[in-house]
Amino acid sequence: MEFNITLIPGDGIGPEIVREAVKVLKAVGKKYGHSFNSKEVDMGGCSIDKYGVPLTEEALNTAANSDAVLLGAVGGNVGNSPWYQLPPDKRPEAALLRIRKELGLFANLRPALLYEELAGASPLRKDIADKGFDMLIMRELTGGLYFGKRYTEEVNGKLTAVDTLTYNEDEIRRIAIKAFEAARKRKKHVTGVDKANVLDSSRLWRKVVHEVAADYPDVVCDDMLVDNCAMQIAVNPGFFDVVLTENMFGDILSDEAAAVTGSLGMLPSASLGEGKLGLYEPSHGSAPDIAGKNVANPIATILSAALLLRYSLDLDEEAKAVEEAVKKVLKEGFRTGDIMSEGMKKVSCSEMGDLIYERI
Ligand code: IPM
Ligand code: MG
Repeated sequence: MEFNITLIPGDGIGPEIVREAVKVLKAVGKKYGHSFNSKEVDMGGCSIDKYGVPLTEEALNTAANSDAVLLGAVGGNVGNSPWYQLPPDKRPEAALLRIRKELGLFANLRPALLYEELAGASPLRKDIADKGFDMLIMRELTGGLYFGKRYTEEVNGKLTAVDTLTYNEDEIRRIAIKAFEAARKRKKHVTGVDKANVLDSSRLWRKVVHEVAADYPDVVCDDMLVDNCAMQIAVNPGFFDVVLTENMFGDILSDEAAAVTGSLGMLPSASLGEGKLGLYEPSHGSAPDIAGKNVANPIATILSAALLLRYSLDLDEEAKAVEEAVKKVLKEGFRTGDIMSEGMKKVSCSEMGDLIYERI
């Protein structure tokens, strides 16, 4: 079959990791007889440098008219990059928020699992890490605080900033359905995470989650306050299967969940809407400090390409082939610098890509 994929290499290590994922897609195409036609567009800082805006209409249209989008990373060093002298809506990250919104990608899936081979890299105490964990953060992605009205004005002579957190029941219902559907294919457990002891938006969140849960009697559903959830991820991560939460809580908790795996460079993500179109990107950022050195870990991006095959192109077998190839390379002892440990073989970003390519 033939598919159209938009590639957004972006900033920092983005181009080098996307290059390796494309390599792996080529191997899949060769083995299974597919052609992936790819079109590359700019987004983030590189787009600001070329066009003065972080995302052009043309780039957005290209993405909207493709079967799937594979993204590296956007953004730079907040401390010293000129991109961050621009107004907030012209900065690299604004492009990310906009493309998610414009493509209707309201569901962000961020798996955080502890790889047995890499458990030693987890910052968790050994007796906790040894129990293992495999959770999926289901983060609402196009509502809440990140998309609410915000402004700064002077009130009684003092600068005063306002951000608003709004959710309607439909926005909550559609992401809850995604969470319960995902749970059915996993350990059949959804934890709704909110701050219902304080926030109205959370009380509505919890009410709607319970309504949806009633349609999934085979899935266990419980609630957890977000502060407790942050604690449980550190002390008992094995408790979780699917963590269903709103945009900002999900942003924060997904970084924590990724961190406790000890291998942020391994974690992919998928952003999905109602249709098949999805945007796939590693859970980590653009790592400007190591950009261009060919030392980044391309595995998160390669696994994002696997999710792309599975969710947008319905190529489940092909997705599994990629995931298996990654496991094989790890088993054989190959490691990029971020996951290196004693006795393993250290490889570069492009060598890691080659190794995975060869095993498909
Ligand atoms: C993420 C990032 C983005 C977000 C930023 C860069 C806008 O932190 O994908 O988690 O908060 O969504
Ligand atoms: Mg984040």
